[in-house]
Amino acid sequence: MFMNIPVEPFRIKTVERIRQTTREEREAYLKEAGLNVFAVPSESIFVDLLTDSGTSAMSDQQWGGLLTGDEAYAGSRSFYRFEAAIRDITGFPQVIPTHQGRVAENLLFSTICRPGITIPNNTHFDTTHANVAANGADALNLPVPEALHPETEHPFKGNMNLEALEKVLTERKGSIPLVAMTVTNNSAGGQPVSMENIKATSQICRKHGVPFFFDCARYAENCWFIHEREAGYKNKKVIDIAREMFSYADGCWMSAKKDALVNIGGFLAMKDEKLAQTLRNKLILIEGFPTYGGLAGRDLEAIAIGLYEGLDEDYLKYRTEQVRYLGEMLMAGGVPLVKPIGGHAVFIDALAFCPHIPQSEFPGVALTVALYREAGIRAVEIGSMMFAEKDPKTGKVEYPPLDLVRLAIPRRVYTNTHMAYVADAIVAVYKNRDKLRGLRLTYEAPMLRHFTARLEEV
Ligand code: F0G
Repeated sequence: MFMNIPVEPFRIKTVERIRQTTREEREAYLKEAGLNVFAVPSESIFVDLLTDSGTSAMSDQQWGGLLTGDEAYAGSRSFYRFEAAIRDITGFPQVIPTHQGRVAENLLFSTICRPGITIPNNTHFDTTHANVAANGADALNLPVPEALHPETEHPFKGNMNLEALEKVLTERKGSIPLVAMTVTNNSAGGQPVSMENIKATSQICRKHGVPFFFDCARYAENCWFIHEREAGYKNKKVIDIAREMFSYADGCWMSAKKDALVNIGGFLAMKDEKLAQTLRNKLILIEGFPTYGGLAGRDLEAIAIGLYEGLDEDYLKYRTEQVRYLGEMLMAGGVPLVKPIGGHAVFIDALAFCPHIPQSEFPGVALTVALYREAGIRAVEIGSMMFAEKDPKTGKVEYPPLDLVRLAIPRRVYTNTHMAYVADAIVAVYKNRDKLRGLRLTYEAPMLRHFTARLEEV
């Protein structure tokens, strides 16, 4: 009998040593870090699930590409390969490289946003939200109602709320320069968006004459879920599903650090030549010449190769199964999760995990502290530390609907045994969840405070 374990469609050519620390060492690191795992050195972490961004293992093909990269300042051969790959997959003729996703966001939103402008999205990621807000505009999240209920199963929980989108496009006519859609929907649990929802969003945007852009960091995982779950896509190749998806939009930006399987890189791609020209002029100011945009030629080469590897169906099957494997072990141990399991990460429902800690005391952060303290595992909070907002006039704090802890799985990096270790450790913490303590801030930055916050236990 074959066991129901996801099998890696690769073998390992190079390894990197990791070391488990003692509990005393971890206590000392936590103290030094002000209980913020962002400030803990990676060498002291056994299994690092902070992010799936820039943490992928590159393939032999990609490492080979690093050697053949063309480092010319202008007109690099590697840029043309990069541009050709993006045009082939997205169909968008205008391709602008950036050194990561948030620079693409910065270029775009500093151009189209100002006070009075609204940017709707199924759910903005934190850097997207911050780049819209930093330009005085309103970053509006329009998830479907199911997204707010961790327990509710829905095959496409990442969908855009179409009625709400139609309403806001009507009510705020003239002040919406673009509608964005994040695939997969990272902040809502790495949940996919269906092709049907993509098509409908596109139609609504066309009707209102508003351009439609994807934030497509994890578009390949999204296309895999469409292939697996949506009627009519079983026999369609994932790359063709991607091409169909992009055909409904006017542009996209991507953090290539996710589904392009590289350690650095990003891009903008679009139809609008005039907008692209404006963005390129800004790019020269802050990133570099338009054929490298803040990247080395070798990085462009690795992205060109990685974009296709990220669409490989054997890889995508294993990838999503490994994430689900971790989720299923945790569920078997009773740990409350966002369901169904997302594409790049397992999301723990921290409000259900530690109901004795109020949102004002950061239950998700308390859980990240416990996971590091007990097992050397690093996870990230996506909850009240990341998203609570204080009304500048009244001082009243508005908390996000969910407090989640994300276990993001780097691509092609950890084995299933690592997943079993993580599941065992978290189930043990869950059994002793009453011991978790709430936290209070001792330092917070005015924006994106989760990166540098310092805390103490209440
Ligand atoms: N959009 C999405 C959906 C993202 O998840 C991220 C990054 C970005 C944009 C920004 O891209 O990091 O290349 O500048 N997400 C990482 C994460 C950091 O951990 O989820 P970037």
